[in-house]
Amino acid sequence: MWPIRSLHLWLGAGYVALGVVNASITVYYPEGQNPFATTTAGAANYTGAAAYDPTTLQPPPVPTGQVFQYNVPLQNGGTPGLSIPIPAGFLGFSIEMSVVNQVVGKNSSIIQVPFLNLMSNLQQRSGRVLVRVGGNTQDTATLVPSTPDGKILEKDIAGASGPTQTPPLIFTPDLLTMLRSVSSFVNVRWFLGIPFNDTSNWRLGIVESGQSIIGDYLLGFQAGNEPDLYARHGHRPANYSPTDYFNEFGQLAQALQADTNVLNPHQLIGPNIASADWQPDQVWSTGFITTYSADLAFLAVEHYPTDNCFAQFGVGNPQDPQALFGQFLSHSFQQGLVAPYLASTLLAQQSGKQFLMMETNTASCGGFAGLSDAFGAALWGLDFAMQMAFSNFTGALMHVGGQSVFYNPFTPPPTNQSTFHQWTVGPIYYSALVMAEAMGPSNDTQVLDLAVNNGSNYTPGYAFYENGNPVRLALFNFNSDPSGASTATANVTINNPDGSSATPSQVQVKYLLAPSVSQKYNFTWANQTFGDVFQSDGRPVGTEQIETVNCDNGICSITIPAPGFALVFLTSNSETETAGAPSTTFATTAVTKLHNTASVDPAVLATSNGHTDMGDHVGSTSPGSVSGATALVVVPGLTVLIAVVAGLAVVRRGML
Ligand SMILES: *[C@@H]1O[C@H](CO)[C@@H](O)[C@H](O)[C@H]1NC(C)=O
Ligand SMILES: *[C@@H]1O[C@H](CO)[C@@H](O)[C@H](O)[C@H]1NC(C)=O
Ligand SMILES: *[C@@H]1O[C@H](CO)[C@@H](O)[C@H](O)[C@H]1NC(C)=O
Ligand SMILES: *[C@@H]1O[C@H](CO)[C@@H](O)[C@H](O)[C@H]1NC(C)=O
Ligand SMILES: *[C@@H]1O[C@H](CO)[C@@H](O)[C@H](O)[C@H]1NC(C)=O
Ligand SMILES: *[C@@H]1O[C@H](CO)[C@@H](O)[C@H](O)[C@H]1NC(C)=O
Ligand SMILES: *[C@@H]1O[C@H](CO)[C@@H](O)[C@H](O)[C@H]1NC(C)=O
Ligand SMILES: *[C@@H]1O[C@H](CO)[C@@H](O)[C@H](O)[C@H]1NC(C)=O
Ligand SMILES: *[C@@H]1O[C@H](CO)[C@@H](O)[C@H](O)[C@H]1NC(C)=O
Ligand SMILES: *[C@@H]1O[C@H](CO)[C@@H](O)[C@H](O)[C@H]1NC(C)=O
Repeated sequence: MWPIRSLHLWLGAGYVALGVVNASITVYYPEGQNPFATTTAGAANYTGAAAYDPTTLQPPPVPTGQVFQYNVPLQNGGTPGLSIPIPAGFLGFSIEMSVVNQVVGKNSSIIQVPFLNLMSNLQQRSGRVLVRVGGNTQDTATLVPSTPDGKILEKDIAGASGPTQTPPLIFTPDLLTMLRSVSSFVNVRWFLGIPFNDTSNWRLGIVESGQSIIGDYLLGFQAGNEPDLYARHGHRPANYSPTDYFNEFGQLAQALQADTNVLNPHQLIGPNIASADWQPDQVWSTGFITTYSADLAFLAVEHYPTDNCFAQFGVGNPQDPQALFGQFLSHSFQQGLVAPYLASTLLAQQSGKQFLMMETNTASCGGFAGLSDAFGAALWGLDFAMQMAFSNFTGALMHVGGQSVFYNPFTPPPTNQSTFHQWTVGPIYYSALVMAEAMGPSNDTQVLDLAVNNGSNYTPGYAFYENGNPVRLALFNFNSDPSGASTATANVTINNPDGSSATPSQVQVKYLLAPSVSQKYNFTWANQTFGDVFQSDGRPVGTEQIETVNCDNGICSITIPAPGFALVFLTSNSETETAGAPSTTFATTAVTKLHNTASVDPAVLATSNGHTDMGDHVGSTSPGSVSGATALVVVPGLTVLIAVVAGLAVVRRGML
């Protein structure tokens, strides 16, 4: 447990300055997002970090003409249209490389306990968790034997270049050892990226060391990150084409084969396009998959539904999150996000490849205050994940960007507040938790979008099949209506192939709930929560509540509050809460005050996430566009406090 719990600070009332600053390193924050700024104002005048912005939107009005009572007829065996069997751990995370030393740990012996707990909750349900460490910062990162100050990750300030003055990262093998350390506690499987900025001098150290250090826990390496945006961002000539990427990928594959320190040259992931300036078929038509089949461990894309780049950097089109909110809460929006990839997921199947969504979230350039961090985003993330699984994606990773973004699934406290604050768990983490439970650990689960309620946009439903039989059922209600008039009731029946009833006498139901789609924090999953801002050590809190619904006359009537989500367990052995691994939590039994390794990389916001849906506008890292450097203020002086893993404390107490 954290030692200081009496200082219960509510951020909306402003930060309270406490503690001692005793380090002096340079940290960059986007302008207006200094997490240490003191404010006594409400949301309108909030100047603190985006990750704790108190802005609250209005819930969208309840669309008219809806029907709230409907039947959900399910069938054992013979149901058409199911997805392929989906590997366990479908919904994982993508951690921007430059914040990995804040989110995962300081080094291989000091790992963030809340991170382990958050991963453990997922492992317990799905057996494993997929995490990518990368992003735009991967492309210029360089593995070095050591850094002058002993940190695992540093910015090479002297090497800063380009209009954004984005300093490249240097990192040490201990960063890789840290990832391997995590996997010795929780079954996290990692994706990394090979720096792709310099095709005449490939820097393959991350592969050489990564494979030998992380071993089987390392699943693959991205070759390039959003290469379709390289030209727009000034990292390649303006005419850089899918054929150029195809050729560079080939050069990388050859370089890996020629490198005798590379244990396995066949772990590449491509093309990782943002589907902004190129569409997938433009890459496929180069012969990418057939030519490089032996080198490719996975096919992957990255994509955000929209962007908030105008508000952050003045590029792209202005967006009104309030106007967008209703879109995110409609099933057809999620279907529309996935539709451009249906031909690709079919091609992947025909090619014997898995197909990943390597990086996504609500909106690039940090997401939207009040939307990305509200309960609606949890429902959106869950529907989007289920839609991807139904559409034969085999995994999807939600991006984690640090203090300066709104959409984080989880955020460690600002470094000098960690003596009195815990982590903040956002809506997207709840999406991942519930998705893990809906899918379970079998690797054989098949998903079907049921188009229930006559394909209603606001009350979608999915079923999850094992061996051809439905075992779990997901029912959404995107409406926000405190009157109760929009509470949905689904009459669920299950038939055998011969038409006889297979409806059980009772089913169990777990709910994901909040009073409104615009509520921030305190969401509940089966009555358990990760609490308010700064309240979580990664373990769900509260008494678990699983409803039992009796099924009379072969009908199970399931109510879904507005808003809400119900996961219905249809058979006696379909519960997955501990199907993946025994429940394991990590307590913080030791707390050490240490100098900070962490510094917030302006590139996280300035260059991350693809700037999709910006039409022809110039991205923020392009020459002549808004300079990231001018959008930054320098905050000197930080102190960090990191909890030491209980298990590690036992093993490695001598080191502390
Ligand atoms: C954290 O550091 C900032 C910048 O030095 C400072 O302004 C702020 O007061 C500190 N906050 C705490 C709680 O120490
Ligand atoms: C924001 O600050 C202005 C000027 O200090 C003040 O008049 C206004 O009430 C504040 N707004 C909120 C929402 O606190
Ligand atoms: C659902 O089932 C209940 C109870 O069996 C019944 O009263 C109700 O009419 C049914 N609703 C629909 C839409 O069939
Ligand atoms: C991790 O950091 C701590 C504190 O700086 C240090 O004592 C320890 O040696 C480091 N561990 C490794 C493996 O470098
Ligand atoms: C690629 O990035 C590395 C590390 O920042 C840098 O040293 C190198 O000059 C870059 N190469 C190109 C071609 O930009
Ligand atoms: C997923 O793949 C299966 C098997 O090939 C296919 O029948 C189904 O139509 C695909 N689903 C979608 C949404 O494309
Ligand atoms: C699911 O697949 C993973 C990865 O191949 C494997 O480690 C795990 O054992 C499989 N789980 C089951 C239940 O077969
Ligand atoms: C179902 O939706 C279609 C259009 O999407 C509509 O034409 C039809 O009337 C609806 N059926 C019912 C029973 O509501
Ligand atoms: C969350 O719950 C805490 C009590 O644990 C309460 O103080 C806080 O006001 C709640 N926040 C919201 C947004 O409901
Ligand atoms: C839900 O959790 C709260 C907090 O732990 C507890 O007080 C309450 O009894 C729980 N409700 C049910 C129905 O278990």
